[in-house]
Amino acid sequence: MTRLRVIAIDGAAGSGKSTLARGLAEALRLPYVNTGIMYRALTLAALDTGVDPDDGNALAELMSRLRFGLSDDDPPEIEVEGARPSPSLMSERVEAEVSHVARHPQVRALMREGQRRLGAPGGVVEGRDIGSVVFPDAPVKLYLTAEPRTRVERRAEQRGAVDPIDVEEALHRRDARDARVNPFETAPDAIVLDTSDRTVDDTLEVAVAIVRDRMPELFA
Ligand code: DC
Repeated sequence: MTRLRVIAIDGAAGSGKSTLARGLAEALRLPYVNTGIMYRALTLAALDTGVDPDDGNALAELMSRLRFGLSDDDPPEIEVEGARPSPSLMSERVEAEVSHVARHPQVRALMREGQRRLGAPGGVVEGRDIGSVVFPDAPVKLYLTAEPRTRVERRAEQRGAVDPIDVEEALHRRDARDARVNPFETAPDAIVLDTSDRTVDDTLEVAVAIVRDRMPELFA
């Protein structure tokens, strides 16, 4: 049996996981599967169609009608309804509701199925529970952390925000909500990487070295 070609990247907002996951996908020529996009797309669809973020069954029904796939880009990335993810998935409106939507077990079960389908042929899969729940057999699991100050700075830069205090408050609010409704599940065999004092290139270099060691078949 061929081994699963999945690299799981988990971590909090602003830990650098998206930057690393995309960089690794490019370096390894594997699809980049950002599972946060799926939770955000469901949240936006719920807001647009008036589905209550507290109604797990209605959300699951909505989720079962959403189509997720991978693009033809290099590296391939998640598509929602056959199109690139809309910038509105990153809006404050979605940000404020996404952890509520993500807490329902019915929703998570469908997400897990969809994420397995997208990642199983091979990919760098980014999220919160990828190494622990979605792909517990992934040969490489990285769990990214960073100091709160670094995470706020990165978030502000990413969003082009004018007021870092606003970003800090929003990040703390979401951290608190995620921790309450949706605690991270770290896989016991995940390698924890603190990215606070590392540059993007440094982090990528460390990650590539780990993958090279554990998945030499990708470099053959
Ligand atoms: O990584 P992100 O900020 O785009 O994630 C958005 C939200 O989705 C976050 O609040 C938690 C949730 N999420 C999750 O519960 N499980 C995942 N695998 C990915 C995201």
